[in-house]
Amino acid sequence: MHTVNKTSSYFIELEEKYGAHNYHPLPVVLQKGKGVFVWDVEGRKYYDFLSAYSAVNQGHSHPKIVDALVNQAQKLALTSRAFYNANLGEYEKKITELFGFDKVLPMNSGAEAVETAVKLARKWSYEVKGISENAAKIVVCENNFHGRTTTIVSFSNDPDANRNYGPFTPGFIKIPYNDLGALEETLKNDSAHIAAFLVEPIQGEAGVYVPDEGFLKGASELCEKYNVLFIADEVQTGIARTGKLIACHHEDVQPDILILGKALSGGMYPVSAVLANDEIMNVIKPGQHGSTFGGNPIACAVAVAALDVVEEENLSERAEKLGQLFRNEIQKLIEKTDLIKGVRGKGLLNAILINDTPESKTAWNLCLSLRDNGLLAKPTHGNIIRLAPPLVITEKEILDCVSIIEKTVLEFKKD
Ligand SMILES: Cc1ncc(COP(=O)(O)O)c(C=O)c1O
Repeated sequence: MHTVNKTSSYFIELEEKYGAHNYHPLPVVLQKGKGVFVWDVEGRKYYDFLSAYSAVNQGHSHPKIVDALVNQAQKLALTSRAFYNANLGEYEKKITELFGFDKVLPMNSGAEAVETAVKLARKWSYEVKGISENAAKIVVCENNFHGRTTTIVSFSNDPDANRNYGPFTPGFIKIPYNDLGALEETLKNDSAHIAAFLVEPIQGEAGVYVPDEGFLKGASELCEKYNVLFIADEVQTGIARTGKLIACHHEDVQPDILILGKALSGGMYPVSAVLANDEIMNVIKPGQHGSTFGGNPIACAVAVAALDVVEEENLSERAEKLGQLFRNEIQKLIEKTDLIKGVRGKGLLNAILINDTPESKTAWNLCLSLRDNGLLAKPTHGNIIRLAPPLVITEKEILDCVSIIEKTVLEFKKD
């Protein structure tokens, strides 16, 4: 009898034939993960230097998070919010105390949480700030990435994200990122109609753009001055990734609305959250927003375990220390090559800038070579390679990865 040989190419062909082509994955087919490592279907082992876009901060299949998932799945998975469940309240207490807010609204994906924050800010602006009906605006930044829903792509300026998806949701004003002057100008001109400023503390998808020191503090102070909500989208930067529990803490900023996702579950399950104080959160009343899966028992059990791991294993401190080491080592490599023209980032959210155009294949080909040498990373915007390992990585492993990157870069030949 003919048996199918289940190689990488078998799985890639299946996806090619039966799946929508909305991604362009690096050709590697993974079937197992543990800590900082993943294995492909041929059994080859790799360092994961993407961490599912910073969702797997706690490492693959962390035993504590796996136990929480399995135990809860065997007991009770889903009730909907038609009934109370015995996990949600304790999770809500934990997350609000940890991040310093009165209340949390649980959702599933990052994009849903951003949508929730947009709705919450608009509702607050009508019912508390007093903006006239349907006139509220939200200030966002150029080159933002907040997800893929119709409203969110309405304020994207990436043509891939929004071309031919219109008509778009109105009510957003775009200003340059990292520009306090532009923010002040915008708020001064129209603060009577502006509900909120929505910002990524570091622009991850855009290529790990770290704003100037003082930008977040300055922006939050301007928001306060003009009675505008400061919304931090920490879906990618949150949960210890940048060396603090949230990136805003680098500047002692407490946002009015905090958006979390990804590593809130250690990448084990889709769990996202919007946090705010009562004055804001209480504008949403029963029946006015929700999600069948938001706040389900598995999500709550998994998120509690994932947050415990962040605290117990000091992941913020590790990210801070090892990120510094990593950037220092890459800086030394930059002196030996003209293939990389820079490294930037905070904590363990970093990127190297390839010395070629965004249209060139150089970064993609370099990622293929890194893969062949046992390290997985992916280019963003053509010539930027994001490097974001799970935060449980050790110093020895980071140095091992630096050696892999160095060897790959020094042996690399451009087409
Ligand atoms: C800052 C930010 N916000 C929102 C999202 C969307 O999250 P999701 O893909 O879970 O919808 C992402 C995803 O990369 C993100 O980086």
